[in-house]
Amino acid sequence: MENYWRSMTTSVPGPVAAVGGEYDVAVIGAGITGLSTAVMLAARGCRVVVLEARRVGAGTTGSSTAKVSVLQGRRQSEIAAKQSSDLLAHYVAGGRFGQDWLLHFCASAGVGVQRPSAVTYAVSPDEVALVEEEQRVCEDVGLPVTWRAQDDVPFPFAGGLVLADQAQLDPLELLAALAADATARGVRVCTGARVTDVDDGPDHLVTTDRGSVRADRVVLATGIPIADRGGFFARVAPQRSYALALRLPDLRPSDMYLSAGSPTRSIRTTPHGEGQTLLVGGNSHPVGSSRSEREAVEDLAAWALRHYQGAEVTHRWSAQDYHPIDALPYVGPLTPSNDRVLVATGFAKWGLTTGAAAAAVLSGLVDGGVPEWADAFASWSRHEVAGVGTGVKQNLKVVADLVGDRVAALEPVPDAAPLEGTGCVGRAGGRPVAISTTDGVTRTVSATCTHLGGVVHWNDAERSWDCPLHGSRFTTDGTLIEGPATEDLPGLEGTGAG
Ligand SMILES: Cc1cc2nc3c(=O)[nH]c(=O)nc-3n(C[C@H](O)[C@H](O)[C@H](O)COP(=O)(O)OP(=O)(O)OC[C@H]3O[C@@H](n4cnc5c(N)ncnc54)[C@H](O)[C@@H]3O)c2cc1C
Ligand code: FES
Repeated sequence: MENYWRSMTTSVPGPVAAVGGEYDVAVIGAGITGLSTAVMLAARGCRVVVLEARRVGAGTTGSSTAKVSVLQGRRQSEIAAKQSSDLLAHYVAGGRFGQDWLLHFCASAGVGVQRPSAVTYAVSPDEVALVEEEQRVCEDVGLPVTWRAQDDVPFPFAGGLVLADQAQLDPLELLAALAADATARGVRVCTGARVTDVDDGPDHLVTTDRGSVRADRVVLATGIPIADRGGFFARVAPQRSYALALRLPDLRPSDMYLSAGSPTRSIRTTPHGEGQTLLVGGNSHPVGSSRSEREAVEDLAAWALRHYQGAEVTHRWSAQDYHPIDALPYVGPLTPSNDRVLVATGFAKWGLTTGAAAAAVLSGLVDGGVPEWADAFASWSRHEVAGVGTGVKQNLKVVADLVGDRVAALEPVPDAAPLEGTGCVGRAGGRPVAISTTDGVTRTVSATCTHLGGVVHWNDAERSWDCPLHGSRFTTDGTLIEGPATEDLPGLEGTGAG
């Protein structure tokens, strides 16, 4: 599985040697949210350090399809179903702000941007009502959408809602430019520094595996929050989805399409030399819960090749984002009683605009001047504040019950090593173990997720161990890839099959 953007980009900054010093703000995570927050805060004169576990763009932003759109599939009607019309209007205002801010930044930094229309479309007449509902909600909130009854596209199209003049870009080109701008403003961008602890005490220490910094305020821009004392792991659901790049002779630039129903189909083109590359996304599912991730990506490829005759798949990859249970993103204090640590999560696969909007909210919370639309991004509603302690405890109990049931159901590990490219989870020596064979090597690691003890699942597309509870993912030797965990799975050589 190789990411198209990464295969095109070589200019993302490397590690800074030492992690240390005192700052006004430590931003954890160098995706769209962390880097835009760093740029905005540095522009206000704050001393900022960015601490990134891997590389700039190693997270979801660098694997996204990077549509910068205010029309977001059926997102506005999903929000309208759960929230007031005022909050929806404020969410849209935040999206417009995020889009404008990014476009302005890209223009000033020379980042390439194309301005196609965004289209939410029905695959069949059965889905038209869904798109019409989105049209009604978008019109109510003042978005200048139009209806397209037919389209000259090679896939089934039964009508679509169109918002003109939206934007798309290369997410790694954007992040490299944000990192360069932040650095030029005096921000220290430290890559290869995984944060393992955020201290709530008077020392204000943020500890990484390469040293510590002191910071008055901390922004957790890690996708799902690490150091989660607010129980956000129970308020967002991790969803993994798939993307392809395809080469196709004589491909013309197209609009950005997103199907209204399920399975989702996301289509856009991107400039490639003198021509265009086609990007197709979709087939999302909860992390760690698919029968076969490889089948999901192959199904998407089969769909693309069926509708784009003569195309060749050049890249396949997958990534995950976090979906909020009550439709709106969570941006603000990690716990209601402590605004020293701030969080931004729950972007529901629309973090390009929402991440930049979140950065404006976070900068306002740190340095004053919170945008008037910020209530649509609040990390705590009034009723959640009242129940926070009980809520976290209840969620931990649910986790413990789920884990207990799953462990009890495990069979002893088989005697034979798993076949090449496969993995299995079983019991050995009274504990859950995860055994896999890749590139001829059989490895055994603990199957117990280091976040809250979930039992990991084999991802046969990425050849990784994925936790179904909150989306932490690990390599076959147990190294943490992403998610709310901060520690690797311990290796257990000698415990398993082989
Ligand atoms: C397949 C797919 C397609 C998408 N397409 C679009 C789209 O077209 N338009 C759109 O608007 N949105 C899209 N999204 C959603 C969007 O990509 C995300 O919402 C957004 O990128 C999230 O940005 P972020 O900065 O919050 O997180 P990330 O980009 O994930 O950045 C978080 C960073 O934190 C780092 N980190 C994590 N833990 C630690 C730690 N302990 N210490 C230090 N660093 C740490 C990670 O390494 C990572 O670099 C898509 C999502 C997916 C999955
Ligand atoms: S990610 Fe929370 S238990 Fe694994």
